[in-house]
Amino acid sequence: MSPDTEFRGRLALVTGAARGIGAAVARAFVARGAHVIATDRDAQGLDRLAADHPDRLTVRPLDVTDPEAVEALVADVERTVGPLDVAVNVAGILHSSPVSALRDEDWAATFAVNTNGVLHVSRAAARRMVERGTGSIVTVASNAAGIPRTGMAAYAASKAAAVMFTKCLGLEVAARGVRCNTVSPGSTDTDMQRALWAEAGSTDRDAAARRVIEGDLATHRTGIPLGRIAAPEDVAEAVLFLASDRARHITLHDLYVDGGATLRA
Ligand code: NAI
Repeated sequence: MSPDTEFRGRLALVTGAARGIGAAVARAFVARGAHVIATDRDAQGLDRLAADHPDRLTVRPLDVTDPEAVEALVADVERTVGPLDVAVNVAGILHSSPVSALRDEDWAATFAVNTNGVLHVSRAAARRMVERGTGSIVTVASNAAGIPRTGMAAYAASKAAAVMFTKCLGLEVAARGVRCNTVSPGSTDTDMQRALWAEAGSTDRDAAARRVIEGDLATHRTGIPLGRIAAPEDVAEAVLFLASDRARHITLHDLYVDGGATLRA
């Protein structure tokens, strides 16, 4: 099958699609023939995405922390557009802080999006997919879920929970033909990454990227062996592979897309 028709006739829901990795995932699905329901809490960002993709992309504002809104949106999409073949959890937030200064509300907000949001969307999609005996769910987690990072306890813990949740769900639904996998990116060039660099006091994007690539033993970071920061499209490629029929025998997998930063084989 040619790459631009791989998802022809398929319907994919993407959260966090207004910018960054989510927008790259949405664009990649459209480019390969899918119809995409692009969701985000940022309605203006969604409108910008929609302006570039008048065909086969429907935007719907959605806050993934609200379980009733998620259920209502998925029900409405299935009724008015069609059955979901793919659901991709990309929405995420990062509050960086050492644990000693971590505020309860930032911990709760982090889990509300990064963990509870994944539950809400995956549950609403999986319920319907198991009835049809087919479907694929991909959660974008983080390589911070698998390796301790300073200043990232809440984020890393929320992502580790999302990874384990996705695997447990995958186990429950495997016999019903539904696959559940995670993609764990390392540093990727998006607003989230640039905000981290700004917090660290850097205004020079290239210098900040170089420091991440070279690593920093003071914070126990070994750098990025492949010598580059990921583009959002690099992460989108991995998501599309796992969502596709090319990965039909892959489930409960956690695919690292971090240029070797966590030294995984
Ligand atoms: P980003 O900050 O550029 O975009 C995140 C999107 O999620 C935004 O459009 C935002 O409006 C949306 N969002 C946030 N909370 C939401 C909510 N409650 N409901 C609906 N939408 C919501 O972030 P980026 O970099 O594109 O990250 C995407 C995912 O990849 C996140 O889950 C992030 O944790 C993960 N990731 C990013 C890395 C990076 O270096 N950029 C590295 C590892 C993981």
